[in-house]
Amino acid sequence: MTPETLEIAPALDAATPADLEQSEPDAAHHLHSKNSVLDDLAAADAQFGLQNYGQRLPVAFSHGKGMELWDFAGKRYLDFLAGISVTQVGHAHPHVVEAIASQAARVMHVTNYYYIAPQVELARRLSNLSYGFRAFFCNSGAEANEAALKLARKWHHDAGNDGKIEVVSVWKSFHGRTLGVLGATGNAAYHKGFAPLPPGHVLIELNDLAALENAIGEKTAAFLLEPILGESGILLPSPEFVQKARELCDQFGALLIFDEVQAGNGRTGKWWAHEWLGVRPDIITTAKGLANGVPIGAMLAREDVAAALTPGSHGTTFGGNFLACAAANATLDVIENENLMENAATVGAYFAGKLRDWGEKSGAVTEIRGRGLMIGVELHVPRARELMKKSLENGLIFNAVGDSILRFLPPLVVSQKQVDEAMTILGRSWEEIQ
Ligand SMILES: Cc1ncc(COP(=O)(O)O)c(C=O)c1O
Repeated sequence: MTPETLEIAPALDAATPADLEQSEPDAAHHLHSKNSVLDDLAAADAQFGLQNYGQRLPVAFSHGKGMELWDFAGKRYLDFLAGISVTQVGHAHPHVVEAIASQAARVMHVTNYYYIAPQVELARRLSNLSYGFRAFFCNSGAEANEAALKLARKWHHDAGNDGKIEVVSVWKSFHGRTLGVLGATGNAAYHKGFAPLPPGHVLIELNDLAALENAIGEKTAAFLLEPILGESGILLPSPEFVQKARELCDQFGALLIFDEVQAGNGRTGKWWAHEWLGVRPDIITTAKGLANGVPIGAMLAREDVAAALTPGSHGTTFGGNFLACAAANATLDVIENENLMENAATVGAYFAGKLRDWGEKSGAVTEIRGRGLMIGVELHVPRARELMKKSLENGLIFNAVGDSILRFLPPLVVSQKQVDEAMTILGRSWEEIQ
């Protein structure tokens, strides 16, 4: 350990959750200035962390509960981002905490040489949620998409179709940043400096039917699409576009892959966001919200397609381990037992209505898009970052996409009362930046 890390450790210890819950606001402020945990963390990160995330927002959280987070100074925040669609059932949900703790105390990991009970259980549950598809587990969204693209290649190869190597996806999509899927991610800024990308990626404009017809053909291995595009600010594929994609994939023997990494896991009020589109895919990928923050990814594939990943053809060390799968099973329990998909639909509609009211009153908004608890708000002025920062200062967490879009992805446990509180903070923050 370096002297710098030793200096920080006591400051973190000094502000335990129990201290902070008991502390008066003044005491919390005192604690903050006295320990300057944030300053210490920022300095150490600047010194030791790889700076790919740039300057972070000036907050360091100490603990959370449900919809709330607290920083080291004891300040409370309402979390309307959920770690970008990850903490689906809220922070420190007792059922998930218990499942993780008791699993960790028994066994966290063995290799995939053996049967792993919570993995088999999770595969069974996801299969029931997805047309009887078979499950492969990995550790992130990018890896789930990698697995899907590898499966598509292998399936065509096994059928003697080695010419089917192209993956069609759309501009403004996000499918991950590993070299294997970077070319499918439709954002040139993320490609820059990493050439040459693996060949075979074709990008078209979202909802452009003519472009779709041009792109999908004899060489197409798969069409990869988010049922709602999250990273670019909540964009909705049109039903005609998705329907046409299914028809063209059928016509040319290509696979339709839905990337449900951000939109899935109950967020839109149905388990999968594509269920709103009435089109069945051949492969589904997911990650983020599946295990409430324990890293996990899953690729689910139609049985005959899944068979192409023969023994030894693909795998990963951590994928599907006891801990991640126990966390995912517990997250699923909570979503089912607490009717959180219904809550996502009801509170999502309520939230969208409140945002609309605010938009009309303030004149700030040009469009509100989304489904359930996946909502994008387009401002008529490029002040999204300013508003996000001011809201954060005032205790509300969401994010800004580009200059003019606000993105809200709260945990599915959010209540109407918490929406009201968030709207009060948002409205006040907007006024404060005028
Ligand atoms: C739709 C979608 N796919 C894939 C990914 C990549 O997931 P990960 O960051 O876990 O690799 C993301 C991440 O934001 C995503 O939103």
